[in-house]
Amino acid sequence: MYQAREMIYLDNAATTRPDPAVVAAMDEVLTDRWGNPSSAHEAGSRAKMSLEEARSSIARLLECNDDEVYFTSGGTEADNWALLGVMDFWRGRKNHLVTAATEHHAVIDTAKWWQEHGGSATILKVDSEGRLDPQDVAKAITPQTALVSVMHVNNELGTIQDIAPIGTVCREREVIFHTDCVQSFGKLPLRFTEMNADLVSISGHKIHGPKGVGALVIRRGLRISPRFIGGSQERNLRTGTENVPGIAGFAAAVGLCARKMPGEGQQIKILRDRLEALILEKIPNVRINGSRTHRSPSILNVSFPGCEGAALLVTLDRRGFCVSTGSACSAGAAGASHVLLALGLDMLSAQSSLRFSFGRFNPPEDVDALMEVLPSLVERQRATAPVSVRGS
Ligand SMILES: Cc1ncc(COP(=O)(O)O)c(C=O)c1O
Repeated sequence: MYQAREMIYLDNAATTRPDPAVVAAMDEVLTDRWGNPSSAHEAGSRAKMSLEEARSSIARLLECNDDEVYFTSGGTEADNWALLGVMDFWRGRKNHLVTAATEHHAVIDTAKWWQEHGGSATILKVDSEGRLDPQDVAKAITPQTALVSVMHVNNELGTIQDIAPIGTVCREREVIFHTDCVQSFGKLPLRFTEMNADLVSISGHKIHGPKGVGALVIRRGLRISPRFIGGSQERNLRTGTENVPGIAGFAAAVGLCARKMPGEGQQIKILRDRLEALILEKIPNVRINGSRTHRSPSILNVSFPGCEGAALLVTLDRRGFCVSTGSACSAGAAGASHVLLALGLDMLSAQSSLRFSFGRFNPPEDVDALMEVLPSLVERQRATAPVSVRGS
């Protein structure tokens, strides 16, 4: 039988370990509430009850209305639907969208797809910390613009964008505003009405919930094309039999976040800040990427010039540490992170970076254990890396 080896998991921005309460909630649905929520009998109404309770608990945390929550298969689908659902609805009247160079692939690649398929898109530059000036958004809006999409917390850097002022610009110019909150929902306080957003993407597996479930929050009254055709689920907009076990697990994760949020965030920030301080103290010539003042408590992105991030990752993995070179989705892709390049890093610095991200199940000892090995691994790599990596 496969024997899992000991590991220290520092890649919580990629995904998180499901909380035991999440597993229990999913087990209950799979065992007792496995009916089809659309069925007009007892088994159906049990499942329907789970579905609607889940919708309410997500709406409570976001402070939106229950009927503004539309379940999806995760953040990618919510992002794709937000962009293409709006652009399709406006087809023939407006065809331009605005987004930023540091967005998640689910947004930026969709914007590029839209461009390649007859639409038009402006991809805004960010500053050296990954922040966007709301005035640049204002300048990019034209009479043809239907949508602006700007993420809240960047998944590679942790940089936090001030969403509300961008939403205000969009309202003033009568443009729809979408924000990807996959990395902030459940971790930072978010109030739908205060974000000035029309559409918000969230996902379950970043908050100790299950994979394959998320939601798009659609402001009441906003018109958007349906995601799927055929069926009446999710008020005819996102049809197909709902993933009730996943949705119930997502809601359980959300309930835990609601209870634990301020304290847990503080605990995680202490670990992240300690790792940052130790890296700066013990490893010469490193660079912290992203904003250090406007940053999610759980993410730390560091360049180790003279090293190859991908090689460090593999060596750390052999020692039992799970970290990342950026977004999990870009793992294995050749080249450097589009986010780090957008900050102005050169190719070698961008390729020398690692992302460490913390979650609920990291004890303080994880930082000590990592720092027992990281300085010497970096030193060794710097001594042995080929000139093409060292840059001189
Ligand atoms: C900011 C951001 N948006 C979207 C996604 C995609 O979410 P999912 O994995 O649920 O499809 C991710 C996942 O890495 C993310 O970090």
